[in-house]
Amino acid sequence: MIGDLAAFIRANTKVLSPPLLPEIRLHLAEESLAIWSKTEEELGASGLPPPYWAFAWAGGQALGRYTLDSPEIVVGKRVLDLAAGCGLGAITAMRAGAASAICNDIDEFAGAAMLLNAELNGVAFDVQLKDLLSGPPTDANVILVGDVFYEKPLAGRALAWLISCQKGGAEILTGDPQRTYFPKDEFNHIAQYRVPVSRELEDAEIKTTSVWRLKSR
Ligand SMILES: C[S@@+](CC[C@H](N)C(=O)[O-])C[C@H]1O[C@@H](n2cnc3c(N)ncnc32)[C@H](O)[C@@H]1O
Repeated sequence: MIGDLAAFIRANTKVLSPPLLPEIRLHLAEESLAIWSKTEEELGASGLPPPYWAFAWAGGQALGRYTLDSPEIVVGKRVLDLAAGCGLGAITAMRAGAASAICNDIDEFAGAAMLLNAELNGVAFDVQLKDLLSGPPTDANVILVGDVFYEKPLAGRALAWLISCQKGGAEILTGDPQRTYFPKDEFNHIAQYRVPVSRELEDAEIKTTSVWRLKSR
């Protein structure tokens, strides 16, 4: 078992900028497969999930780029970065002028990575390590959702919860590179990017990735 989460992250990542966000620095895996198999060996045995937090996923990069280039979506707002992984959504929201941000995930390694990444980028936010999707809607004004529609149960639960949050007044933006379970009909398209990604993780070197807004109902 790995005792010190932050020490593990520092030892197994490099400080790099995601291709679409040269102004942001994150602790990221340089060799995708190496960290994936290392954490599978060391963490898999203890039931912990794979290191999603060690990558800036295509959906998160597109959403982060859009947030920095269209700061009016978050300026002065309370933002939730749902399933934040490395915390890119909350970092870009705070950089763009959000009043506050909460960075959410269920993985304690992601919790440690978000805090290290916040420090690297000179921003601060709260970390909430729990599954919000079965609970009441958040009171955030804006919910940023980077790349979560990759598994059917998660996609279904996320959509239902996001709709409940929208009914409470939240604006919902997601970045998605056409993942299998992305419920496209529920969203309006707002921007598109070509995101360089690792062929070791994805089926391509460039993922065409869009930013979408949940349709109002
Ligand atoms: C593909 S990663 C995306 C991370 C980040 N948003 C990005 O775009 O780089 C998906 C993340 O969802 C998290 N996750 C999975 N189920 C979740 C849940 N029920 N609540 C919160 N986070 C969850 C995983 O731990 C992982 O960090």
